[in-house]
Amino acid sequence: MIPHLSERAIVFAPQGRDAAVARDMLREAGLRSEIARDVGALVVLLEAGAGFALITEEALADANLQPLARWIEAQPKWSDFPFILLTRKGGGLERNPAAARYLGVLGNVTFLERPFHPTTLISLAQSAVRGRRRQYEARARLMELRELAEVLEQRVEERTAEHELAVAQLHEAQKLETLGQLTGGVAHDFNNLLTPIAGALDMLQRKYGEEDPRSARMLANALQATDRATTLVQRLLGFARRQSLQTRPVDIVVLLDGMRDLIASAVGPTVELQMRRESEPLCALADPNQLELALLNLCVNARDAMPRGGTLTIVAEEIAVGPRSEPKLSPGLYVRLSVIDSGVGMEADTLARAVEPFFSTKETGRGTGLGLSMVHGLAAQLGGAFALTSAVGEGTRADLYLPVAQRARSAADQPQHASLPAPAEPLSILLVDDDEIVRVATAEMVRGLGHAVIEATGGAEALGKLAAGLQVDAIVTDYKMPRLNGAELARRVRKMRPDLPVLIITGYMGVTEDISEFPRLPKPFNQADIAGALAGLVSSDGNVVQLRRKRAAREDATS
Ligand SMILES: Nc1ncnc2c1ncn2[C@@H]1O[C@H](COP(=O)(O)OP(=O)(O)OP(=O)(O)O)[C@@H](O)[C@H]1O
Ligand SMILES: [Mg+2]
Repeated sequence: MIPHLSERAIVFAPQGRDAAVARDMLREAGLRSEIARDVGALVVLLEAGAGFALITEEALADANLQPLARWIEAQPKWSDFPFILLTRKGGGLERNPAAARYLGVLGNVTFLERPFHPTTLISLAQSAVRGRRRQYEARARLMELRELAEVLEQRVEERTAEHELAVAQLHEAQKLETLGQLTGGVAHDFNNLLTPIAGALDMLQRKYGEEDPRSARMLANALQATDRATTLVQRLLGFARRQSLQTRPVDIVVLLDGMRDLIASAVGPTVELQMRRESEPLCALADPNQLELALLNLCVNARDAMPRGGTLTIVAEEIAVGPRSEPKLSPGLYVRLSVIDSGVGMEADTLARAVEPFFSTKETGRGTGLGLSMVHGLAAQLGGAFALTSAVGEGTRADLYLPVAQRARSAADQPQHASLPAPAEPLSILLVDDDEIVRVATAEMVRGLGHAVIEATGGAEALGKLAAGLQVDAIVTDYKMPRLNGAELARRVRKMRPDLPVLIITGYMGVTEDISEFPRLPKPFNQADIAGALAGLVSSDGNVVQLRRKRAAREDATS
């Protein structure tokens, strides 16, 4: 409604000079008025807006009041339009049946009997305008309330949607968590069993391999199968977030450059490979070997999605993640590695299940369905996240978020491990493991390297032997043992014999504390692995010769 119209008076008095007189009186009291010639014009003016209407009884007498009645009926809830009706002399309600009828039609009406004093009219007019103003105030308040209600409704809708999304995400996370616990448990036991199997096969091959070519072939096959089983178990453990990760700052630019040829040959010549980095330096906290494996898994998936070729783009950039980001991550800086293909894409239900372990749409034998599970588990274990987006016929984008590390260490201060040659000089090793099968197999491997092995079935026994004066060059201990775990044993040994190196063998499960202060060897391992670990152990803690000299000196002193 136009504001300057909202308080005007409408005068409907078609006979004689009534209208002009009324208008003059109102003008003197400072009230604007408009004259209506008939009921139609009156309704038009009312619709445009007015404060009240001044009507003579004669004006209504012969007119068709239908349009006016309809307008009054259709008023919004806040409105009760005020009328002042000028009646004839002696035309009061009690003696005038017509007046009673007007009361019914007009509703909010005040009767003013003629002749009247101008002051009476003005005071009636002013109170009508005041009443009308209060109606306008009510309208304003109603509108405010309505707006508020809309905002509230919108908020409720937003919150409900957020809640539903959170519940769905929680459900998804719980499903993956349960699957992770199941797979992790099975994989852990399986992994423990693989250690003696691989160890025994390895030694048998060394022993009989040259004498008997047939046995050699069979043993080679068995070893190959063990290797495959190991890879499988590692992927399962990766999904279950139970890998023993060698987490450290990794220069992503160097890592990607180093992988370029490998990726190019993995995806083949029909796929165009593009690699971009949007920011530099890019340094993430990750396990470089596992990260390479994860990226390779993503690239192989991309290749499989582009059977007739296409483009594979790998983008690395540093991004800041806020509190309401998607995927859910604690706010901070992350390195995002995106592997984007122009392949067949995924249907919604495939996309929803893609990271589930053993979910694969590939023909039997071609896919384990563990690739993305491993990537997802790795990202979560590193404190990052993994997200997939895909559209059928357009392609897929896999985003791997890793926490930013402060700086990449140079290659020189990264720990060296595995495949170092066995030390020339034989060592004496105290081997601690509560699992007899594993301990015996490990002892055989170590003896096979020319070292002497003293076995202990637990931490207490090992400490007892040391306290009784046992002299060894190194201790090799399992991590997960009842009562005293490997890390605790290593700490106590450090107090008793600060120069005695301890190597901890880690399964993939149950390493609940940070044991990065000690050298580690992950299960399963073969003879070369343990040879390398022992060599690294004694050479990093001072060399063997030095150890021997110290021991000899101690022995001299006690004898
Ligand atoms: N880039 C992609 N484009 C289209 N579909 C994909 C893509 N990546 C994964 N998928 C779908 O997700 C499924 C699961 O992928 P995942 O890597 O976990 O297992 P897989 O590739 O089938 O088996 P594996 O990784 O052991 O070879 C795939 O079978 C495929 O249907
Ligand atoms: Mg795959």
